[in-house]
Amino acid sequence: MPSEHKFPVKPFPVDKQIQGISVRTNQEHYKLYQGYVNRWNEILEKLKTADRSKANATYSEFSELKRQETFNANGKILHELFFPTILGGDGKPKGEILEKIKQDFGSFEAWKEDFIATGMSARGWAILALELQSEKLFNFLVDLQNVGHVQDTVAILALDVFEHAYFIDYGTNRKSYIDAFFNNINWDFVEKRYQYAKKVAQIYKEYFKE
Ligand SMILES: [Fe+2]
Repeated sequence: MPSEHKFPVKPFPVDKQIQGISVRTNQEHYKLYQGYVNRWNEILEKLKTADRSKANATYSEFSELKRQETFNANGKILHELFFPTILGGDGKPKGEILEKIKQDFGSFEAWKEDFIATGMSARGWAILALELQSEKLFNFLVDLQNVGHVQDTVAILALDVFEHAYFIDYGTNRKSYIDAFFNNINWDFVEKRYQYAKKVAQIYKEYFKE
C-alpha cells in the first residue's frame, strides 16, 4: 500500500445528452463512481492504522478493509473505462481494434452477439479484454467489481450492466439499454485502449518467452 496517495475523481461530461441513455441516469451513475473513488481513498486512510495482527478470513477490521478495497478500486477503474466509452461516440466501429475483433471472433456481428449475451448474463460487467499470453481478445463476465476478473489481461471495452446503469430509462429491459450502449460507443477511445493493450502484450512477450 502506498503510504500517501489520494485518487482524484475524474471529470466526465455526464450532462451531455446522448442517444438512448438519459442525462439523469448518467448523473446518478456518476455519483456512484464518485463514491467508489472516495471509498477507496477512505479505505487507504483507515488501512494505515488497522491492526494487522488480528487479520483472519472471517472478520477483522483490516480483513474487511482489504476485502472492500478491491471492490472500490475496480469500481473506480471500470467506470473510468465506461464513461469515456459511452460519452461522445457515434457507435461506428473502426480502427485496428475492428480488424482484430473480426480476426479473433470471425466477424464483428459474431463478436457483438457474444458480447451482448455476456452482458445479458452478467450481474456486473461485460468486458472485452486482450489476453496477454495468447494475444487474443476475450469477452469476460464479471459478476461483482471484485469477482471474475481474469489476471494478465487488459480491459479494452467495459459495459456496465448493474441495474443502476439502466433502470431509470428501461426498467428491466436490459437488452434495449445494451443497444443504446452500442449506439454510443466511442471507438476512438476503444482503439486507444487496444493500442495500449498491444504494447503491454509486447512487453509480456519480452519477459515470458516460451
Ligand atoms: Fe456502474
